[in-house]
Amino acid sequence: MKNILITGGAGFIGSHTAVELIGAGYGVIVVDNLSNADTTCLEGVEKITGQKIPFYKADCCEKEDMRKIFGENRIDGAIHFAAFKAVGESVDRPLMYYRNNLLSFITLLEVMIENGGGGVVFSSSATVYGQPDKLPATEDTPRKPATSPYGNTKQICEDILLDAVKAHPSLKGMILRYFNPIGAHPSALIGELPRGVPNNLVPFITQTAAGLREELRIFGNDYPTPDGTALRDYIDIVDLATAHVSAFERMTGHNPDGSCEVFNIGTGRPLSVMELVERFMAINRVPLKYKIAGRREGDVEAVWADTSLANRVLGWKACRSVEETLANAWAWEKKLRRLK
Ligand code: UFG
Repeated sequence: MKNILITGGAGFIGSHTAVELIGAGYGVIVVDNLSNADTTCLEGVEKITGQKIPFYKADCCEKEDMRKIFGENRIDGAIHFAAFKAVGESVDRPLMYYRNNLLSFITLLEVMIENGGGGVVFSSSATVYGQPDKLPATEDTPRKPATSPYGNTKQICEDILLDAVKAHPSLKGMILRYFNPIGAHPSALIGELPRGVPNNLVPFITQTAAGLREELRIFGNDYPTPDGTALRDYIDIVDLATAHVSAFERMTGHNPDGSCEVFNIGTGRPLSVMELVERFMAINRVPLKYKIAGRREGDVEAVWADTSLANRVLGWKACRSVEETLANAWAWEKKLRRLK
């Protein structure tokens, strides 16, 4: 059995990925400093899979801690999710973002090399494309200068991996650029747990529907899009998690040494903010108070993925409907808030 270290494995994407890897026969080890997560989702992963997950509460920037984890486990590969991810906070605290997001990744790579290398997946983001000149965005769409330190850390980490893989033949790399991950596991045992007021659309919607927030503000209805609201590519979290299983199959199978492939992970279908809100209300039969507000600074008007490369090369495809995804997101929120 191959063992995969998941950094940031207690978080939203990490916990869903752990479930899918275990389901596909991988062993999983989680390291997380719990700076933006607690153990709720790890417990959920254990309930869903019926397996005890080896968990280290540690900071990936701490080399000795990482060495200990590698010393105590046979680790064949890693997925690096551990990072700060709030765009606005990164503008206020850039050094904290650069230190954490860059150092944690560099440390992971160094310790992997010390321990014989392996395959490493870096969790990147559609944010690297900014507002593309042509849509949908392909992997060859030029990256735009980042508009936040957060976005810049994603670009720099991509470059770090590309260079590290070239110089260290024991490493194999893969960069996955996620579009907008939403939803929750159908068991409602794991899902998104934002701290404080959510920045992202779907947790804000579910918290508003649950009565925790007064109303949803729709940021901008004067974009040059069919209904004036911004377009995104919302991908189901379980679909996104399964892409990591395909990534490891690819890296162990065909990926030649020294290469670092890049894949878009999305649905390939744009959806407007307004359409998403309407579909949430329709599928869940719950009212949602909302109003139109001004545009949010830093938002792009439209971005969605060309996923044909991932479909063809990874043999992976997003298959869940947005309705199913929004029903799962609502089921998770209701369970958290003990609503009927
Ligand atoms: N939106 C609202 N109201 C809200 C929250 C969001 O109308 O309360 C809108 C946004 O303006 C945007 C869309 O919903 O048009 C999606 O917003 P999210 O915040 O959910 O997602 P983003 O597309 O802004 O975020 C993505 C990634 C982030 C990344 C960011 C960088 O999910 O990880 O791009 O731009 F940081």
